Order: sequence, then C-alpha cells, then structure tokens
Amino acid sequence: MKWNSIVFKLGATIFIILISVLLPLIYTIDRLFYKSYLSEAHYQINQLAAQYSNSLSSREDLDSLQAVANLTKTEICIIDREGKILFTSNDEAFHQDTQIERELVEEAYSKKDTQIEYHNTTNNLNYFVSGKPLYLSNQEDVGLLVFSNAKHIKKSVHDIELLLWVTMIGALCMALGFTYIASKKLASPLLQMEKVTRDVAKGKFYKKVTISSNDEVGSLATAINDLGQELERYRNRQTEFFANISHDLRTPISYIKGYIQVLQDELYKDEKEKDLYLSIILDEANQLNVLITDLFELSKIESGQLDLQLNWINVHELIESCLIKVALKAKEKEILLQKELDTNIPFIFSDGARLEQILMNLLENAIRYNKLNGHIKVKGVVEKKKVHLLIEDTGVGIPEEDLPYIFERFYKVDKSRSNRIGSTGLGLSIVKHLVLLLEGEIKVKSTLHKGTTFYIALPFNIREGIKDKVL
Ligand SMILES: Nc1ncnc2c1ncn2[C@@H]1O[C@H](COP(=O)(O)OP(=O)(O)OP(=O)(O)O)[C@@H](O)[C@H]1O
Ligand SMILES: [Mg+2]
Repeated sequence: MKWNSIVFKLGATIFIILISVLLPLIYTIDRLFYKSYLSEAHYQINQLAAQYSNSLSSREDLDSLQAVANLTKTEICIIDREGKILFTSNDEAFHQDTQIERELVEEAYSKKDTQIEYHNTTNNLNYFVSGKPLYLSNQEDVGLLVFSNAKHIKKSVHDIELLLWVTMIGALCMALGFTYIASKKLASPLLQMEKVTRDVAKGKFYKKVTISSNDEVGSLATAINDLGQELERYRNRQTEFFANISHDLRTPISYIKGYIQVLQDELYKDEKEKDLYLSIILDEANQLNVLITDLFELSKIESGQLDLQLNWINVHELIESCLIKVALKAKEKEILLQKELDTNIPFIFSDGARLEQILMNLLENAIRYNKLNGHIKVKGVVEKKKVHLLIEDTGVGIPEEDLPYIFERFYKVDKSRSNRIGSTGLGLSIVKHLVLLLEGEIKVKSTLHKGTTFYIALPFNIREGIKDKVL
C-alpha cells in the first residue's frame, strides 16, 4: 500500500479520529468506574464496621468475631485508646498486644464514615479500613477496626479496566478493517477512472468507466465517459474538417483544370459550348474564392483577430437594406419577403457591417433552402433590454437530429453533389461566432418540410469591456 494512497490516508484519518475520541472517553470511564468502585468498597466496609459495632455488646460476643471475619473475608481488630490490639481475627497480620498506628486509633474512635487505605508492613498488604467505637456492657473503652484486603477489590477494578482497553482495541481494529474495505471500495472506481482517462488521453476514446453508483463518484465516471465521447466527436470533426477542406478545394480545382484542358485542346463544338465551359470555370473559381474567404474569416474570428467597428445602428434601415439586397434572389424563386418590426426598436450600439453579414447569411439560407413561392418573414421585437430578431422561412426545414450540428464548420444537412456550388457549410458557423462576438445569442427551431426560424437576441449596447478593447 502506498503512503499517499487514499486507503492509507482514510485509514490514518479514521485511526487518529478514533484514538482522539476513544482514548479520553475510555480514560474518563475508567476513572469514573474506579472512583465509584472504590467508594462502594469503602461504603461496604463502613457498613460492616457499623453493623459489628452495633451487634457487639459484651466481651463474650468477641468469640464469634473470628467466624464473622472468615465469613466476610475481612480482618477484625479490637483496640484500646492507646492503640494496643486486644483482639485480632488474624494474629499473623495484626499481632495481639502490638501497637497500631495513631491514624487508625483515631479512625476507630471517630463516628464518621471515612475512606482510609492502610499499608500493613507485617504482611506487606494494602487494606481498606473502617473503624467504629465499641460500647461493651462492662464500660470498656475500646474501638473496632475492620480491614478488607484491597488486593481483591483492586483486582476486580483492573479486570474491568483490562476489559475496557481490550474493547477499545477491538473497536479500533474493527473500525480500521471497515475503513480498509470501504476505502478499497472507494478507491477502486477511482483507479479505474485514472486508467480510462489515461487511455482516453492516448486516443482510445472507446474506453469507458463502469458506472456502479449514482453518487459523486458515479457522476464523475459519467463525466469522464462524456468527456471521452466529446473528444471522440471532436477528433472525428477535425478529421472531417480536413477531409472537407481538401475535398472542397480539390473539386473546383479539378473542374477548372479539366475545362481549361478542354479549351486548350479546343475540344468544343462551337462558341456557345466554349462560353459554357468558361462560365463553369468562373463559377468554380468563385466557389474557391468564397471558400477561401470564409475560411480566412472564420480563422480570424476564432483566433480573436477580428476588430469590431462599433457605431450606433438603425436596425430598421439595416434590415431594409438587407431585404433589398436579397430581393433579386428571392424573386428568382418567387419568394415573398415580409417585414414586421416593432416601432420601438432603438438604435443599437454594435458593429453594423458584422450585423449585416449575419442577417445576409440567414436570409440567403432562408432563400436557398426555401420552396418555390415560399415566404420569408423578418420580425423584430424589444424585450428585456434586447432586440430580438426572427427570420422565419417556409422552406425544407432541418431534421431534428441535424439541429445540434448546423453551426459547426462544414456541416451540411444535404450533402449531395447537386448542392455543392454556392454552399460551403461555413455560413452558420461564421454567423454563430459573429453573434457571440456582438454579445448576442442565436437559436434555431425547425420543422421538417414546414420551415425554419432563426432567433437572434442583441444587446442595446455592447458591454463596456468589449468597447474598451476595440475602440
Ligand atoms: N433556413 C434553413 N432551412 C433549412 N436548412 C437550413 C437553413 N439554414 C441552414 N440550413 C442547413 O444548415 C446547413 C449549414 O448552413 P450553412 O449556412 O452553414 O452552410 P451552407 O448554406 O450550406 O453554405 P454557406 O457557407 O454558403 O452558407 C446547410 O447546408 C443547410 O442544410
Ligand atoms: Mg448558408
């Protein structure tokens, strides 16, 4: 196991937490228990002493003390005021006629319950002691001392202490075991994620993480899988982009080369056919020009090299001028152009030329992908401090599955050759970039065979940041 592994870190953390909680807890329980056990032991011996002192009334009763002492596993001594032992239940531990310590004499003649521990030097044992004055019938002034061996009591306390510590160590081991299993369970999907991420980084986008839970780890796994999918799509788009670019460049060039060859070899029947070939060459050259201009434009926008020329723009005039420009193309397909603009649309502070480029692209699409005798309506409303423009057409529409991709470079819904001339698939990509550059938003809605609507929302005033940068 590595020191910096999650298993070790989690284990160490839980161990430290448990130790810092359990140690003081066990210590406190131990002390409380020790104290209450000792005071219980003292209480019992005090009780015994009190009972003996109450029940002994004459010297004759002393004979029974030996048996009582044996029965209660205690030692009993009767002493006089000087501390001399007059009676002992155990002569080996407390010799008859010897002198007992002053402290114990006071204990024997006091009426209070005390908690005294006494070390007997004769047998080297510790005792709990309780003493009470004795009132015998012959008026003798004697005291009673009851000794209980502390070894038994302390042994019981130690046994319980041991049990507490064993329980703590057991709990600790169990907690560590659970932590190990839990952290292994937690770490294993992470390790799998690491492996898959490395594979994805090497281009193996098909590698996927198994999603085994719906928690944070599960959503991380989903995110990694999504990332792999996105990267795969990006790589495919890149490959497609280069394939498209080379195809779109190569095709007009090959047409141009072919027809020039035909003209050079004079392989045409008459002047009319020659003119036809020349117009094809011109068309293809124009297509090449459009493609290169669009690509150049797109790369300039993407690399942030496009400078905006900001000015106050009359949206009404701008739309009118665009509609005039596309009127001829619309007439060719008998398309009706309509305008429905709110009168309260203000002048907006933006880049007029770029705005016109956006509208022209959308209007040209609306014409190109419209039916004969179709309609195009340009609507304009003001809402939430923004100008909302809608370009609605009654054209072929866009299939739902193509909608998310139409703003991508070279994306064409109809990829047929007949649609090749005049269509590069870059128009909407440029539009999207320009709208974003003008701090706007663009959306599309479409119903197949019914029509398409593009929505653009533009701010009244491009934000200060951009103004500072550009002006
Ligand atoms: N109004 C529309 N109605 C139906 N389909 C549309 C419309 N606008 C765009 N599309 C579809 O989206 C694709 C991408 O449009 P885009 O404008 O980017 O490229 P294009 O029109 O093919 O070429 P160009 O670069 O000359 O504009 C089009 O090929 C077309 O299939
Ligand atoms: Mg277009």
